[in-house]
Amino acid sequence: MISPILQVMNLSVSYDRVHAVRECTLQVEPGSVVAVLGSNGAGKSSLLNALIGIVGSQGSILFEGKSLKKIPTEQRVADGMTLVPERRELFGSLSVEDNLRLGGFRLNRQAASRRIDEIGDLFPVLAKRRTQMAATLSGGERQMLAMGRALMVNPKLLMLDEPSLGLAPLIIKDVFKVILALKARGTSMLLVEQNARAALEVADYAYVFEVGSITHEGTASAMLDDPRLERAYLG
Ligand SMILES: Nc1ncnc2c1ncn2[C@@H]1O[C@H](COP(=O)(O)OP(=O)(O)OP(=O)(O)O)[C@@H](O)[C@H]1O
Ligand SMILES: [Mg+2]
Repeated sequence: MISPILQVMNLSVSYDRVHAVRECTLQVEPGSVVAVLGSNGAGKSSLLNALIGIVGSQGSILFEGKSLKKIPTEQRVADGMTLVPERRELFGSLSVEDNLRLGGFRLNRQAASRRIDEIGDLFPVLAKRRTQMAATLSGGERQMLAMGRALMVNPKLLMLDEPSLGLAPLIIKDVFKVILALKARGTSMLLVEQNARAALEVADYAYVFEVGSITHEGTASAMLDDPRLERAYLG
């Protein structure tokens, strides 16, 4: 049996008196895309932030079978997990290329240049805008750059926090095309989305969060056919 790349057990995240995530248990199989769905404030970003280690949590997180307790964010990234945060946090005054280089600061110059070329193949728009300042990119281009930057280290588990947020339908299509291309290369993904239908179309398995707890889970295809979810999330 293949063991999960990510195994989360009874994970809780609290901020003062707000219990953002309550005793959540979930897993990601190697090479699969797992969607996390749920409305505003359900705790989705808190979950991802806890997994990468930028907010504290209780419970257990195993990455490739190893506990992440006491492992700082930087080491988690070095070990192969990365997060593209909801706010896409780019360095606005730096060029597209320099933003990518920062994502690959662990690589030597030659390896980084090679990787930037590969990322340019995946996102032709970034190749075209290599010298443009990040602050002047469109929303869609920024999302591509944030994803490209996370991919510099060739992660085993890519976590995406609402990659379609604020983007026009045609650009959302492009973002999901890239997700499918990454899936075809074997990258495992944890995909947080409010755009449930689009997420379920690329995912293998999904969890639905409601006020901090997982209330439904199942294969993506079963969820797409579930009339209750249809009413609640798929519109
Ligand atoms: N740093 C913080 N301090 C206090 N409360 C927080 C903090 N971050 C998040 N929360 C609260 O935790 C709850 C979950 O927030 P979270 O951002 O995880 O939800 P979400 O599912 O990602 O929502 P959205 O879809 O709007 O991004 C919310 O009630 C939010 O107000
Ligand atoms: Mg969020």
